[in-house]
Amino acid sequence: MLVGGEWREAASGETFSTEDPATGEKLADVASAGETDVDAAVAAARAAFEGPWSKVKPDERARLINKLADLIDANGDELALTETLDVGRPIQFSRFADVGGAVGQLRYQAGWATKLAGETLELSAPGEWLSYVLREPVGVCAQIVPWNFPLAMAAAKLGPALAAGCTVVLKPAEQTPLSTIRLVELALEAGFPEGVVNLVTGYGRTAGAALAAHMDVDKVAFTGSTVTGRAIIDASKTNFKRVSLELGGKSPTFIFADADLKKAIPAAAMGIFFNAGQVCAAGSRLFVAEEVADQVLEGIAGMAKMLRVGHTLDPETVIGPLVSAQQLERVTGYIESGRQEGARVLVGGERKEGPGWFVEPTVLVDTEATMRVRREEIFGPVLCATRFSSADDAERLARLGNETEFGLSASIWTRDIGMAHKLARRLRSGTIRINGSGGVDPALPLGGFKASGWGRENGKAGVEAYTELKAISVNLD
Ligand code: NAI
Ligand code: MG
Repeated sequence: MLVGGEWREAASGETFSTEDPATGEKLADVASAGETDVDAAVAAARAAFEGPWSKVKPDERARLINKLADLIDANGDELALTETLDVGRPIQFSRFADVGGAVGQLRYQAGWATKLAGETLELSAPGEWLSYVLREPVGVCAQIVPWNFPLAMAAAKLGPALAAGCTVVLKPAEQTPLSTIRLVELALEAGFPEGVVNLVTGYGRTAGAALAAHMDVDKVAFTGSTVTGRAIIDASKTNFKRVSLELGGKSPTFIFADADLKKAIPAAAMGIFFNAGQVCAAGSRLFVAEEVADQVLEGIAGMAKMLRVGHTLDPETVIGPLVSAQQLERVTGYIESGRQEGARVLVGGERKEGPGWFVEPTVLVDTEATMRVRREEIFGPVLCATRFSSADDAERLARLGNETEFGLSASIWTRDIGMAHKLARRLRSGTIRINGSGGVDPALPLGGFKASGWGRENGKAGVEAYTELKAISVNLD
């Protein structure tokens, strides 16, 4: 752990181990933080916030963040390999998705350091006033990151916090701490003052819960499950700390009869199979027009059979393992529940034999809105497909899209521009793509409606979420 610029073991001496999900073999023992360690890290972050960091000018904050981006880039091969081994990401993706994602985030966020601003306002009260609104850093931020994109998500959380002038205690997921340990080492090398970036490694129920309940943490930024999101809201009541939550999804993909199927089919397949479906915005529900349903489902099933599932260090591998034995059990449990509730397995559906936590890319057809596989986040490579008819209008399709408690993301494939925009307006969803696919862009606000979270990360809204406003009025008379 890194506390106030110093590397330490846990005060209790306890450790936990992290494994390679492709083999199930142990990679390393890592310090397991308890309350004492969390207290020390928060105290270090507080001292830096009130001390040296508060004196650092915006352009210097930008320079340091950019320097960290350069160091990540320069150490990109090592970080990509670390991420592949610890997370189970196929090596062909980890250089650009993880390392590239982290570098892009930090370079984008660095720009905000010199551009955040307050405003001046005219008051209606009698007399002459000078009234202005200061935008100040919110303070000490706890940042709790999940295991699916540890490096890129840690960077996406660190960047805006540091740009805004906050200090940070990072907590990576217990399944995937290794790239974050290297990240904070690089932050030290970049020259951030001691205590600006702190790291506690440990379990959610101990280290995570202690951060979320801590009386001296001003904000907690969390990405992960809806269940843990609720626990964080509860814990934040201690001191009314600010909370931002990026939670799960059950995102729909709509493919209309007039869509460009050469693009829509591979995009829908990769939308659910990329990273073995362990993506918050995964397109896990497919609504396809009946005129093209057979062709689309055959196309997706064909890709499911063709995509190489295998060891993550094999450069040809497209689909790696799930992150843990527990996730494998969850995902195969959902596939089984789908079967029992009457869904049909069009392709896949089985665990892959051998070492590691692999499950076949799977398509379930004949799914109904009441089935658990249609309502709950599976977080595996499992697509639930449903046909719609050409008589269905934007209202009815939006009702299908909005049928779950989530509202994170959606994709629409059609050449009918009016229908695309009508449907986009009616979907209760934080991100919508029309006739295209792609990952996170740091310029776009990212977050969800409904149970998909609170607030937005990225973009202007994301960095402003690390600030407080202070209204100051001077009577000039
Ligand atoms: P989780 O939400 O429990 O874990 C995410 C992070 O929260 C980890 O760093 C963990 O240590 C921490 N955490 C756990 N309990 C905590 C607590 N009480 N207080 C503070 N921090 C706590 O997710 P988990 O159990 O690893 O995965 C379960 C399911 O969650 C997945 O199957 C998936 O559906 C969903 N999930 C969604 C993610 C997303 O990107 N939206 C990412 C990871 C999981
Ligand atoms: Mg691991």
